[in-house]
Amino acid sequence: MNKENVNELNTKRLETQRLILRKFELSDADGMFNNWATDEKSCRYLSWSVHKNVEETKSVIKSWIEEYKNGSYNWIVELKETREVIGSICVISISKMNSTAEVAYSFGSKYWGCGYATETLRRVLEYLLNDCGFYLIEADYISGNPISGRVMEKAGMHKDAILRERGYNKYTNERNDTIVYSIKKDEL
Ligand SMILES: CC(C)(COP(=O)(O)OP(=O)(O)OC[C@H]1O[C@@H](n2cnc3c(N)ncnc32)[C@H](O)[C@@H]1OP(=O)(O)O)[C@@H](O)C(=O)NCCC(=O)NCCS
Repeated sequence: MNKENVNELNTKRLETQRLILRKFELSDADGMFNNWATDEKSCRYLSWSVHKNVEETKSVIKSWIEEYKNGSYNWIVELKETREVIGSICVISISKMNSTAEVAYSFGSKYWGCGYATETLRRVLEYLLNDCGFYLIEADYISGNPISGRVMEKAGMHKDAILRERGYNKYTNERNDTIVYSIKKDEL
């Protein structure tokens, strides 16, 4: 009996020891622009490129705020201590039929190496699997970006597969393998 029902599509405010995960607001535009949307290192392995101006960031945030109305998962991550916004995590695809979803995340490079991504991912996995009715959550990274795989492992995910040359690495201009990780509800 592995069928679960996805019952909540909501970017609920979540907390960890050091972080607040909450919905984006338009007033986050400057923080996002300065802290990761213009950070070459942070965007290197992502599908989008650095933002050219803060208007672009505002427009992206506006579209995400609209998406909340139909139900979506897209958190901005804020440091409790300083109230700085440091990155984001979202669900990029959902299969309601299979009760599965895929997550992706990005943090400004000045905040790397402090465990924030692992803390964030772990909390979101708990929420999606325990509260929202998902059976399995997956994430992937391209082989040039092993730090991301380390985050998945540290958050309790397991390596599923290597998809040969499935990702385009815009930084090196090469095709790279895509490595897929996942975690099931009973593995939390
Ligand atoms: C991948 C990313 C989210 C990691 O964030 P983070 O907050 O630094 O991650 P954590 O601090 O939780 O650490 C995870 C591991 O990566 C290691 N790490 C972090 N930054 C590193 C760096 N610059 N070089 C080498 N290792 C690094 C950490 O040491 C840790 O491993 P360890 O515990 O074995 O030492 C961040 O680098 C990022 O946003 N990258 C750009 C966007 C991206 O690639 N997103 C993922 C797409 S799938």
